[in-house]
Amino acid sequence: MADTANGTAFVAFERVQKSYDGETLVVKDLNLSMPKGEFLTMLGPSGSGKTTCLMMLAGFETATHGEIKLDGKPINNIPPHKRGIGMVFQNYALFPHMTVAENLAFPLEVRGMGKSERESKIKRALDMVQMGDFAGRRPAQLSGGQQQRIALARALVFEPELVLMDEPLGALDKQLRETLQFEITHLAHRLGITVVYVTHDQTEALTMSDRVAVFDDGRIQQLAPPDQLYEAPENSFVAQFIGENNTLEGVVEEIRGDHCVVKLDSGDIIDAKPVNVSEVGERTKVSIRPERVEYNPERLQQGAHTLKAEVLEFIYMGDIFRTRLRVAGNDDFVIKTRNAPDQVRLAPGDQIEIGWLPEDCRALDA
Ligand SMILES: Nc1ncnc2c1ncn2[C@@H]1O[C@H](COP(=O)(O)OP(=O)(O)O)[C@@H](O)[C@H]1O
Ligand SMILES: [Mg+2]
Repeated sequence: MADTANGTAFVAFERVQKSYDGETLVVKDLNLSMPKGEFLTMLGPSGSGKTTCLMMLAGFETATHGEIKLDGKPINNIPPHKRGIGMVFQNYALFPHMTVAENLAFPLEVRGMGKSERESKIKRALDMVQMGDFAGRRPAQLSGGQQQRIALARALVFEPELVLMDEPLGALDKQLRETLQFEITHLAHRLGITVVYVTHDQTEALTMSDRVAVFDDGRIQQLAPPDQLYEAPENSFVAQFIGENNTLEGVVEEIRGDHCVVKLDSGDIIDAKPVNVSEVGERTKVSIRPERVEYNPERLQQGAHTLKAEVLEFIYMGDIFRTRLRVAGNDDFVIKTRNAPDQVRLAPGDQIEIGWLPEDCRALDA
């Protein structure tokens, strides 16, 4: 990343490794560099090392190797009360015996702030999360969503420059989660705070973040803005983990520049874009997004590659049609088509031809 090279990174992980037992590395050679004001999400399956990274950044765990820097300074050298890091977790962690206002006063008292300044900051933080009328309530008198808003206000009340959030919306129902997703991103951008957000929910990661770091097995598999992650996954793990994906397996027959020929296990030959395959004879998983596949011959673009398919299932979803096909021996090949007045509606048993552009067909590691 350019921002490491010129030294302006606000948060930096440099070759960080972590082992809890002195044997297994749960974080392996992690490099990450964030500019100030960025909203970055660590996304990955359970156990991939996300929380460990957050805990090291907060200073609750130490790295086994490597260094973590905040504003250019190694985190170990900054005393906790000067780190200016706010934190929000999944289970709210509000003090149950204190009122909302007392919960918010706590991080300010710890920092030695006087009463009148405290009161004005608490009011502002509560207004920010639309909870101004709840200062006198105790956590047990609030709903889950309200408690999570208070936890957010408490993390923001001392105006931290960096906020860390670990699955903060995991315990909430879908609708509330979506509302808070937008509130958190708007708030973060409006206040200009830097956020490291952890989730295992890919939709949440895509909708909230400036960039997403996809974790698997203690490593960042890809670090990119949401559109790039979805449209240009660099390996099979990312292609499978982000969004819906069709996979066809085969062997690379030919490679020339940004073009390759793949012989599928079914015997079909297709053109693809070589992404992380490099040799003839190598096995590959070819990845194609459902909305890049066309079955209406009039809409097929020039240069599109076609294959025969049998319709197994057609689902009308209002805005789109979701059709499951048998393609080259794969019974789970899904295509999504926008509902339009002239769009053909398929039915089970239909024998069709489908097509896509070779550049939308990515040859990835097997
Ligand atoms: N305090 C701990 N002591 C020992 N092992 C731990 C500890 N915390 C996490 N681990 C292990 O480290 C790995 C990564 O865990 P974690 O960072 O919590 O992943 P994630 O947040 O992505 O689910 C897991 O295998 C987990 O069991
Ligand atoms: Mg975790």
